[in-house]
Amino acid sequence: MIPDKAPKDDVFHGAEEIRSGAHVPTFEKYKEMYMQSVQDPDKFWGDMAKEFFWKTKHNGRFLDYNFDVTKGDIFIKCMEGASTNVCYNVLDRNVHDRKLGDKVAFFWEGNEPGDELTVTYRELLNSVCRFANVLKSQGVKKGDRVAIYMPMVVELVVAMLACARIGAVHSIVFAGFSAESLCERIVDSQCSLLITADGFYRGDKLINLKLLADEAVQKCRDKGFSLETCIVLKHLSKEAPETSLSSPPAKRPCPDLQETETGRVRKTHPVPQVPWNPKVDKCWHTLMCEVSDECEPEWCASEDPLFILYTSGSTGKPKGVLHTISGYMIYTAATFKLVFDHRPDDIYWCTADIGWITGHSYITYGPLANGATSVLFEGLPTYPDVSRMWQIVDKYHVSKFYTAPTAIRLLMKYGSEPVHKYKRDSLKVLGTVGEPINPEAWQWYFTVVGDSRCPIVDTFWQTETGGHVMTPLPAATPMKPGSATFPFFGVVPAILNESGEELEGTSEGYLVFKQPWPGVMRTVYGNHGRFESTYFKKFPGYYVTGDGCRRDEDGYYWITGRIDDMLNVSGHLLSTAEVESALVGHEAVAEAAVVGRPHPVKGESLYCFVTLCDGVIFNRTLEAQLKKQVREKIGAIATPDFIQDAPALPKTRSGKIMRRVLRKIASGERDLGDISTLADSSVVEQLFQNRCCSAV
Ligand code: PRX
Repeated sequence: MIPDKAPKDDVFHGAEEIRSGAHVPTFEKYKEMYMQSVQDPDKFWGDMAKEFFWKTKHNGRFLDYNFDVTKGDIFIKCMEGASTNVCYNVLDRNVHDRKLGDKVAFFWEGNEPGDELTVTYRELLNSVCRFANVLKSQGVKKGDRVAIYMPMVVELVVAMLACARIGAVHSIVFAGFSAESLCERIVDSQCSLLITADGFYRGDKLINLKLLADEAVQKCRDKGFSLETCIVLKHLSKEAPETSLSSPPAKRPCPDLQETETGRVRKTHPVPQVPWNPKVDKCWHTLMCEVSDECEPEWCASEDPLFILYTSGSTGKPKGVLHTISGYMIYTAATFKLVFDHRPDDIYWCTADIGWITGHSYITYGPLANGATSVLFEGLPTYPDVSRMWQIVDKYHVSKFYTAPTAIRLLMKYGSEPVHKYKRDSLKVLGTVGEPINPEAWQWYFTVVGDSRCPIVDTFWQTETGGHVMTPLPAATPMKPGSATFPFFGVVPAILNESGEELEGTSEGYLVFKQPWPGVMRTVYGNHGRFESTYFKKFPGYYVTGDGCRRDEDGYYWITGRIDDMLNVSGHLLSTAEVESALVGHEAVAEAAVVGRPHPVKGESLYCFVTLCDGVIFNRTLEAQLKKQVREKIGAIATPDFIQDAPALPKTRSGKIMRRVLRKIASGERDLGDISTLADSSVVEQLFQNRCCSAV
């Protein structure tokens, strides 16, 4: 499966010096380790597990599983019998055993240049223990679910690790999601407490998070679910940024949020007014002042849940992907170390938001497990100007940089001048994630950002996989622009045709995995049947990714994109069904069909066809209302780019919408292929005539 020799032609390498001291220095070493990892996973992962602290050791096999629905329930179990605590492993172990207490865990860089905070491992541990005690004081117990809806601040990491410390299960909802989406997630996982913040700025735009959180709490109540407590961090109105997290509690200000109107104004921006319901709302800072900074970790079983993270589902209802403790911890630690070739003096920066899996695995758990120093960035790549990323790279001497193709394409539009304003000579490895990277963007990233010196790790993975599953290793793998190259250790990919047969050699089909790795999801929270039917039913014996894939003559894997009804907008998966249901929720809409249209920066944009109810006229006002409707139901990331009035939709005689045809109409491609199964082909011409053409 892995080629005997790496190809010599048409491939790229990073500078030679990357090899010296690398964890996996050559392709031969990668192959050797890969064979060990799949032939004897117990030994391979068992060795990785030795780095961590185990309160009790595991008994039996390292990984036990059933991937075949025809043989019984699907299950994956890692290190049964062992007990540990993730928070202990990523903080106490670093502070006490590895003597990294004074090492910086995070350089926090705010939205506004000049807003910054440095947090050491000791300070982080101190705050996490304190907040773990806060959670306990609010009645949170092991196994309880805690919703977190916060901006990119260090306290978000504190909140998640405090949950992990007491065995509570965090469910983070990206702060760009709507109140409705937050409510849906709180109710689905029956969270007992919500942690949020007053608000934050994205560039110039104020996001009044507390108002959205309040709306979500009210919506929960309307659905008969009562959330008793909401802890609110004063972020926008907090004291001087240099106030360290570890300042003695007595010196930390604990004013009530209502006082913040007159409080400190950050730079040029006003602080929002925050409504306050004393029955539900509690001030983060006040609570932190009331508790001790000592908190014994809760020793949890290997397969106890660590967190739930919702991802779009093709039926429209988001799925609560559940990850468990030991396997996820070991896998994110191992992938971080090897894929970024982590060294102790690295400064690492992942630009993702912690509200997505990339932030969970590669801002919080993976880097901290390795004792890494990271930049945690609150802002935008284009604020206050399009050089911001490179200014930050130079400011902190970032050596490993991880971002998304959509950010690269966005910055590419402004040319190389804003990049060349900064030296970037600290950079050693560049990474991408979230969607296929087009070769032009890859080349720009490689030559302009990395000065043709830094290898690019194009990491393919999913919320469900917990960590990277297909990726180059920076010193070992010759790169091909746009290919995620080869499997990570322990991962066994296959390409299947429609009948479920494994294809050999050069081929294209469904990307599946034949056996588990420690970090793979364990279930869909509260719905194991949905887990089995989504990932294991189509091809019994395999985990089905939902992505298409091609293998070339050199054995390289190329992800070709989703093959289900999911769209990838700016690296975020969206379900067409979810957007359609939001549109149909508007009284004027009888039917809706949503497809992706290629977009130069976002990858895909949302193109919506709506059939209106009898007598309703399509106009700009309605279009604006529909966009607002989707934004409010799902969030700004799902705002439609195009809405087209569709008096009728192209359907087969059995009434199925032909999305393939709609995709062609959306992108203006006249070559429709076989449309003989259409019930009424005149619909197509009508839709072509009314297409929305304007550039987004
Ligand atoms: O379609 C693939 C695409 O993103 C999907 C997973 O999305 P999500 O669960 O939101 O996680 C994103 C961050 C891990 C995949 O099914 N995808 C992710 N990375 C790549 C990719 N497609 C191609 N190349 C990648 N490197």
